[in-house]
Amino acid sequence: MTESRPMRVVILGSGRGSNAEALLRAQAADRLGRARIVQIFSDRPDAGILALGPRFGVPADFVDPAPYKTKLEGAAEEHYITSITASEPDLIVLAGFMRVLKPRLLGAFEGKIVNLHPSLLPVFPGLDGIGQAWRAGVRVTGCTVHLVTGEVDGGPILDQAAVRIDDTDTLETLTQKVHAAEHALLPDVVARIAAHGVAALLPRRR
Ligand code: GAR
Repeated sequence: MTESRPMRVVILGSGRGSNAEALLRAQAADRLGRARIVQIFSDRPDAGILALGPRFGVPADFVDPAPYKTKLEGAAEEHYITSITASEPDLIVLAGFMRVLKPRLLGAFEGKIVNLHPSLLPVFPGLDGIGQAWRAGVRVTGCTVHLVTGEVDGGPILDQAAVRIDDTDTLETLTQKVHAAEHALLPDVVARIAAHGVAALLPRRR
């Protein structure tokens, strides 16, 4: 039997990396199909996500985002483009990457970047999606994986998972529930992209 060509996946993250870990665990359990996580990049040298590299045998590197705090532009953006390109990615997963991507980088990887967001977009975009839902008093929130476009948290939705907010929940338990939903949704979406391509997951409306 011939093995199909791997779908090369690069993960970008700024935080603890629990979603990157969910992807790496899914890969280890053979639940990602032909997806292969080939590289992790972070804009924070101290991010937990970078510690996953040695644990799972995947290169994990800090790429300096200076001088900006919340975006990638100019020389830093070029550096990211060069670094990501060197990994020859078929898919780039933003798993808690807390920077706005600008047109140059988006253009370099058009249609290949997906983002995980902790709310049922299009509601509660931007920072602290879980806290926004909590304070708004909604009964249902969740998480979204969407294609990244120039509109922050606004690209086409590939899939979502709902999380009920019970009267017994606190912000802490809600946060745990949304993260658990993310840890199931993201590997599932990546596996489906590996099997069918991104376009197959785009919503069809008549
Ligand atoms: C996740 O909850 C993800 O949805 C969120 O950051 C967290 C990263 O956690 N992303 C955003 O808010 C993007 N707007 P992790 O580092 O443990 O995977």
